[in-house]
Amino acid sequence: MRSLTPEAVRFLASPAAQAELAALAGEPLDPLTTVATLRKRWGADEAAWIYDQARLRRKGRAKFPYADALLFEAEALEQASAGPVARWRAERVFGPYDRVADLGAGIGGDALALAAAGKRVLAVELDPVRAALLEHNAAALGLAERVGVLRADWRTLDLDVEAAFADPARRRGGRRTVRLDAMEPPLADLQRLAGRVPAVAVKLAPALDRRELPPETGLGFVSLAGELKEALAGFGALAWSEPWAAVLPAGVRLGGPEGPARTGPVGAYLYEPDPAVIRAGLVRRLAVELDAWQLDPQVAYLSADERRTTPLARAWEVLEQGPFRQRDIGAWLRTHGAGAVEVKRRRSPVDPALFEKKLKRTLSAGGPTLTLFLTRVRDRPWAVLGLRV
Ligand SMILES: C[S@@+](CC[C@H](N)C(=O)[O-])C[C@H]1O[C@@H](n2cnc3c(N)ncnc32)[C@H](O)[C@@H]1O
Repeated sequence: MRSLTPEAVRFLASPAAQAELAALAGEPLDPLTTVATLRKRWGADEAAWIYDQARLRRKGRAKFPYADALLFEAEALEQASAGPVARWRAERVFGPYDRVADLGAGIGGDALALAAAGKRVLAVELDPVRAALLEHNAAALGLAERVGVLRADWRTLDLDVEAAFADPARRRGGRRTVRLDAMEPPLADLQRLAGRVPAVAVKLAPALDRRELPPETGLGFVSLAGELKEALAGFGALAWSEPWAAVLPAGVRLGGPEGPARTGPVGAYLYEPDPAVIRAGLVRRLAVELDAWQLDPQVAYLSADERRTTPLARAWEVLEQGPFRQRDIGAWLRTHGAGAVEVKRRRSPVDPALFEKKLKRTLSAGGPTLTLFLTRVRDRPWAVLGLRV
C-alpha cells in the first residue's frame, strides 16, 4: 500500500478519482491488471492510490454502512469502531447531549455516527491525512454542517462542549496494548479532561485491568453478535454508579447491582450469558431476570426449567447430563444421533479441540449438531449435552 499524503487525499476526493472509484466498485480487483488499466489514464502514484482505495472501500463495508462513498486509510480503518457499536453509543450513551467532541476522531467511525444521531460534533484529529479524510467523509455523507474537523492535539484546546468521547489508540510500534498508561494519549490525560468537560466516555480494550481505573469511574461492556467489542469508561455525568452490559445488535442493556447467589442442579435449559454480561460481572443479575440459577458459584453457566427468550444469553435444551465420564458421553451422542459436536468448557481442564476429535467416531452422518458442556456441579466434574434453541 502506498502511504497517503494530504495531496493524495485531495486527488482522491476529486470528481475524476471518485468516478474511477465508482466504476471499480463492482469489478474484480487485481494488483496487476487493475493497476495496469489505471496506468493508461493516471501516473504511478494516482493509479496506486485509486487501487488501494478501491480495496479499502471493500474492507470498509464491514464497518461503515456507506463505505462506497468514503475514503479510508488502512490503519485508521482497522482502528475505526464498528458501525452498529458507534451508532448505539451515539444514540444511547450520548443521547442527552447536543454538542459532543470526538477526541482523536481518526477517519470518523464515531464522529460520523454522532453526527448522524443529530449531534453537533467537534472532531479533533492530530494526523493531517486522517483529518482530511474525515472532512471528506463528513461531506460525502451530507454531514459537513454537523461535523467541524480540527487538526490539532486536543490536549491543547479549550473544549466548549457538553460531552466528549475519546478512543485512544491502543497500538504502539505495531503492538497492541491493553495497559491504560500505554495508550495514546494515556489515561492520565483523559482523567484531566474529565475535570473540563461535564460528561466523558472513553473507549477501552475489554481486557483492561479494572484496577488501573480510578474507583469512581463508571464502566460498561459492549458486545456485537456475541463478540465482546469494547469497554466504555465513564467520567463526570457518565460515571455510571453500577456496571452495565450492552448486547448488540439487539440493543439490550443490562445493569444494576449483582443479584443474589443462587446455585442449583442442571434444569431443563442451560444458558451461556453473552460475553459482555460476563465481563461486566452481571451473571447473577441475569439469573434474576431469567429466573435461573448458576450451576456453580464460580461458573458462568445458568440453568432453568422454563426458557425465557433473551438476547443476553444463548440457550440450549438439556438432552443429557451427569458426572463427567467419557463412555457415557459417547453413548449420549449415539442415542441422539449427533452429526457433529461442539465442546465448551468452564472450570474443566479438558481441551475442547482434543476432546471433539476423540468423540468423532461416535457421530452419525447427517445428524444434528449438539453441544457438550464440560463444567463443575457441586464441585464435581460434570457434563451436559444440549441442543441449541
Ligand atoms: C483509535 S483511533 C480513533 C478511531 C475512531 N474512533 C473511529 O472509530 O474511526 C485514535 C486516533 O486518535 C488520534 N490521536 C491520538 N492522540 C491524539 C491527540 N492528542 N489529539 C488528537 N488526536 C489524537 C490518532 O491519530 C488516531 O487517529
